[in-house]
Amino acid sequence: MKTIKRILIPIAVALLLVTTLVAQETNSPSHNLALTPPMGWNSWNKFACNVSEDMIKGMADAVVKSGMKEAGYQYLNIDDCWQVSRDASGNIVADPQRFPHGMKAVGDYIHSLGLKFGVYSDAGSKTCGGRPGGLGHEYQDAIQYAAWGVDYLKYDWCNTTTQDAKASYANMRAALDASGRPIVLSICEWGTAKPWLWGKEVGGNLWRTTGDIEDRWGGQKKWPDGTCCSEGLLSILDQQIGLASYAGPGHWNDPDMLEVGNGGMTDVEYRSHFSFWALLAAPLIAGNDLRDMRPEIHDILTNKEVIAVDQDALGREGERVWKGDDADVWAKQLKDGSRAVILLNRGSAEREISVSWEHLGYPDHLGASVRDLWQHKDLGKFTGKFSAPVVSHGVVMVTVKP
Ligand code: GLA
Repeated sequence: MKTIKRILIPIAVALLLVTTLVAQETNSPSHNLALTPPMGWNSWNKFACNVSEDMIKGMADAVVKSGMKEAGYQYLNIDDCWQVSRDASGNIVADPQRFPHGMKAVGDYIHSLGLKFGVYSDAGSKTCGGRPGGLGHEYQDAIQYAAWGVDYLKYDWCNTTTQDAKASYANMRAALDASGRPIVLSICEWGTAKPWLWGKEVGGNLWRTTGDIEDRWGGQKKWPDGTCCSEGLLSILDQQIGLASYAGPGHWNDPDMLEVGNGGMTDVEYRSHFSFWALLAAPLIAGNDLRDMRPEIHDILTNKEVIAVDQDALGREGERVWKGDDADVWAKQLKDGSRAVILLNRGSAEREISVSWEHLGYPDHLGASVRDLWQHKDLGKFTGKFSAPVVSHGVVMVTVKP
């Protein structure tokens, strides 16, 4: 009897512990958020500090009218500069000129369209734009955000001096959860402390992997104050290598928001940009003026076949599987066993690029159907490899389905 007790009691205690932990996890309001990469719109890339109630409402209307809502875009996120001060009790105060009806009214309008509402703050004493940050006010702010109906918080990393990144973001997640409202936590720490190693553990739903994107094809450029660096598209892409295994349902690598339509790249380059963000299972957060889009830009942002690659339920991030001289092949495994594949031409002249089945993890003799996701066309059955001409700075994006 004694031996049985000696065995059974520890097992019972262990079981109790495990069930309590699992119950805590599943009871947390943030459980089950962002099971596919978040899709939406954010004000920063186009408008920087020039945000207002009228502009945000207009953009929410445009998400619906343009068919972007129907294509899956959901979050309307106000980035930096909506806030101006704290009141005598420490409550965060929205700019009364720019948001005359307050933040709850903005959230209510966004929700009335069936969309979700996001705001921005910072883990330090001030935001990057010099507005009041969240440091020391985490729980107070979380309660305020929940009262406004906030669904998504982008939390930046300026003015954090000696703060520990992991602890700071864990603290904000705990504060958000204590508010009782499910709120997506977007960690904007620029990859400095390798957030892919701890972002999931602290309840982050996405984490930036690099410095800020700028609307150009390649390279890093110093900021005007001499610090390093804004990132072009290829520079960001190359920094994603090796990070794929950290992404999955509920927790994504974030290579920063989209620049599609902001004017610094050609339509060919924007198509490459959008294709890669989908292959990387990246958040698709548009950053252009949706009230005034050329049809070409609209068609890029609402390409449902490319969006389906991003939103694939398996939640795998794609990786580079072959690298040549100015040409790459990238692939992402999809839930049905097929692969999304990108042939990228980094060079200045059109060229033929091939993907071999070996690089996709398929046997050589396997026959597979290839479909072009930009031409919306079945290209037929191929064995062993698929090749296509790719224009300069362009991609061919296909699915390969055995
Ligand atoms: C940082 C972030 C950007 C943006 C600005 C706002 O640079 O990385 O995405 O939010 O701050 O000031």
